[in-house]
Amino acid sequence: MILVTGGAGFIGGNFVLDWLANPSAEGVVNLDKLTYAGNLATLQSLEKDARHIFVHGDIADCNLVLSLLNKYQIRAIINFAAESHVDRSIHGPADFIQTNVLATFNLLEASRTYWSELAQKNQQNFRFLHVSTDEVYGSLSSTARPFSEKNPYEPNSPYSASKAASDHLVRAWYHTYGLPVLTTNCSNNYGPYHFPEKLIPLVIMNALAGKSLPIYGDGQQIRDWLYVKDHCAAIRRVLENGKTGEVYNVGGWNEKSNLDVVNTICSILDELRPKTDGAPYAAQITYVKDRPGHDRRYAIDARKIEQDLGWRPSESFETGIRKTVQWYLDNQDWTEGVLSGAYRDWLKKQYS
Ligand code: NAD
Ligand code: DAU
Repeated sequence: MILVTGGAGFIGGNFVLDWLANPSAEGVVNLDKLTYAGNLATLQSLEKDARHIFVHGDIADCNLVLSLLNKYQIRAIINFAAESHVDRSIHGPADFIQTNVLATFNLLEASRTYWSELAQKNQQNFRFLHVSTDEVYGSLSSTARPFSEKNPYEPNSPYSASKAASDHLVRAWYHTYGLPVLTTNCSNNYGPYHFPEKLIPLVIMNALAGKSLPIYGDGQQIRDWLYVKDHCAAIRRVLENGKTGEVYNVGGWNEKSNLDVVNTICSILDELRPKTDGAPYAAQITYVKDRPGHDRRYAIDARKIEQDLGWRPSESFETGIRKTVQWYLDNQDWTEGVLSGAYRDWLKKQYS
């Protein structure tokens, strides 16, 4: 079996669903603390699938992790568990240091203990795949080359600094102890089951609710958008064929400004769900105070994963964003469940 951490979150949830969509796939032990971002409704379709074992717990709990590794004879760990939202890290960095740094250290230690006691063949086959972000590389100027695996780390937010720290720990556990690790640094994801504190789901849901669509600063910041299912495919590819100790950058070759992203969503909604008063959704756009230390541009050079492992994204931004908007229109049960929870308190704190 494999151990997925943070598998009730956005990317982890999509990963577990996609993994188990393959009838011959190994089972998944899914360890998640169920913070505000963890949502079991995402995994509802697996309720009767005996190959999915959900465990409510913290990756910081070494005893729990070790007992799961031993009980299920885990052959790979895919670590998605993290605090993931930049704005929250600005309001309260402590949780980010706790989970992204200290708890990742505990997870590495539990993994090392388990791995060091495995028989030689199982030791060779074992993998610890750490899912990280392009934000560790800092911000690019408009003319700079996209981030390659060789770019220096220059994190600018408490979130990206905490992820950078976790990447360094993972690297050190490979070089010092020989733990067979893999690290992926990915650009901005979007798609189904995305928690609406992040730009794309926030804009879709606010637009439909007749609320304002908040653009930080001038809206000219650039992100490299990747459809989440492409990211999940990249992780599977790295897990199977990646070289231990290596880092793989994963990106969509889809650089867009925030304003372009929001306008695209508005036009798709104008077409799929026109407003009864005939007004365009873009009329709801509002410019708000910028994020402190807001990184201007991210872009990924994804040539290494393509050349070494043959992975390329299958969705363009245009196809992926259309699927995403349609998913939110078709899955209002999921979004209403989210809206009735802690999300509302967060909205008040961030935008009032
Ligand atoms: P998310 O916030 O949607 O989900 C995180 C999940 O981790 C939640 O289910 C939460 O309950 C769980 N969790 C948090 N702390 C935990 C702990 N201590 N123990 C166990 N579970 C815990 O995040 P996401 O957007 O799905 O991101 C997943 C990973 O991918 C993160 O490591 C993030 O840094 C990375 N990443 C995200 C993006 C993106 O665009 N969302 C891009 C690149 C990399
Ligand atoms: O680059 C990968 C990263 O992408 C991941 O590591 C993070 O976990 C993930 O949250 C995401 O970080 P961003 O900060 O880029 O994503 P977010 O959706 O919060 O913001 C995207 C852009 O939109 C960013 O430039 C800020 C802007 N924004 C965001 C919100 C929520 C707005 O203009 N208005 C908003 O209301």
